Amino acid sequence: MTPKSSSPEQFSSKLGAIAAAAGSAMGLGNVWRFPYVVGEHGGAAFLLLYVFFTIVISIPVLVAEFSLGRMAGKPVTAAFQFLQPKGSKWHWIGYAGVLTAFLIMSYYNIVSGWTLYYTVASGAGWLSDFSGAEVQYFFQGLASDPVRCIIWMSVMLIATAIVVVQGVSGGIEKYSKILTPMLFILIIVMLVRSVTLDGALNGLRFYLEPDFSKLTARAVFDALGQSFFSLSIGMGTMMTYGSYVSRKQNISGMAARVAALDFFIAFLAGAVIFPCVFAFGINPGQGTGLVFVTLPNIFNQMPFGSIFAIIFFLLLVVAALTSSVSLLEVVVAFFKSNFHIGRRRATVIASLLTFAVGVACALSTTVFGVIDNVTANILMPLGAFFIVIFATWILPTDKLRAEVEADGQKLKIFNVCYFLLKYIIPAVILLIFANCLANWLMD
Ligand code: TRP
Repeated sequence: MTPKSSSPEQFSSKLGAIAAAAGSAMGLGNVWRFPYVVGEHGGAAFLLLYVFFTIVISIPVLVAEFSLGRMAGKPVTAAFQFLQPKGSKWHWIGYAGVLTAFLIMSYYNIVSGWTLYYTVASGAGWLSDFSGAEVQYFFQGLASDPVRCIIWMSVMLIATAIVVVQGVSGGIEKYSKILTPMLFILIIVMLVRSVTLDGALNGLRFYLEPDFSKLTARAVFDALGQSFFSLSIGMGTMMTYGSYVSRKQNISGMAARVAALDFFIAFLAGAVIFPCVFAFGINPGQGTGLVFVTLPNIFNQMPFGSIFAIIFFLLLVVAALTSSVSLLEVVVAFFKSNFHIGRRRATVIASLLTFAVGVACALSTTVFGVIDNVTANILMPLGAFFIVIFATWILPTDKLRAEVEADGQKLKIFNVCYFLLKYIIPAVILLIFANCLANWLMD
């Protein structure tokens, strides 16, 4: 049994803390973004790279974020202000994190809106009996129609705002604990259908047989960005969550569990989607629409497919909601503390700003693509870089170690992790970054 923590500001149990952090991590990043970036970069080799980065870079960064947050007992910007040497400017990382959250939020809600639209469309039976080409056409119609995009985005934004206004505890945590296992079960049901489709084998080959000649510098960059995005790291969200975790809890174990759950969902989503992509002759590298043009085909080939479709898209809406709540919360907490306004007013202002940038994303796929790329591939890796530098070069080693081991359990691989965090991870991030920048400039 996990001891109950004493403060109401903390997660009430080990499971609650893991559920909340996993709720932020698991979202559209797993089911929507992961398959489409894997598809764009040729499949299995990219997947391996993703796993490698997650283990060697993202999990240590996640441990560092949780530790910094818990050490300070404050959300991101305030945490740096509290921990940094007097007069330094490390809290600017916090500002950058808030900006990143804000930008991600703006396009994230459009995709959540699509998901909601698909829930309704499945319920109304608009997608049943569609051929593969018609499914594709249906999605293109939606994505290129700013009015529908904006309407459905607004519904999701309002839902997010309602949750955030009320505070995150209670409801969202409770729901995550029930809904996340349901998402797993449904994905597994769909997996059974997907891998038994005619032509599924080619999809599994694409997904699981690495061809390293397909790996470009860009792929390396995107694998790292996707890993950060999926785990919500590199912008202080997990620092904020870390500040709610009790000292009795083992942070490294928690980070490993969250990462494992997160990877598992993403991996399963890919295993559902690629067999279907090949069975229906869809182009795996087609980008942001991938999930929306494949899944309806699977449902159309399943007994009770439309019921599964409604449940599945609804769960995806919920997964998206728990993640977008964590994004909006970062911005709201910042407005509250910096401009000394109440939660309600902060939520309204943050939502209106998000709405404005969201409209720009809906009107222009270029704006959408640029924000998606810049946040995941530039702002988050740079955020992670500075967080890691702060944790290892600014804070004394003993302090970080004491925080990681505050529950009394020694972390046997602390020295290895520390070495990675101090030297290897910052160097790798910079190298990948420089390489990609050079490629862009040469283009
Ligand atoms: N990780 C979430 C997903 O996979 C998205 C997300 C939520 C996020 N909070 C974040 C991404 C903070 C980056 C930073 O869908």
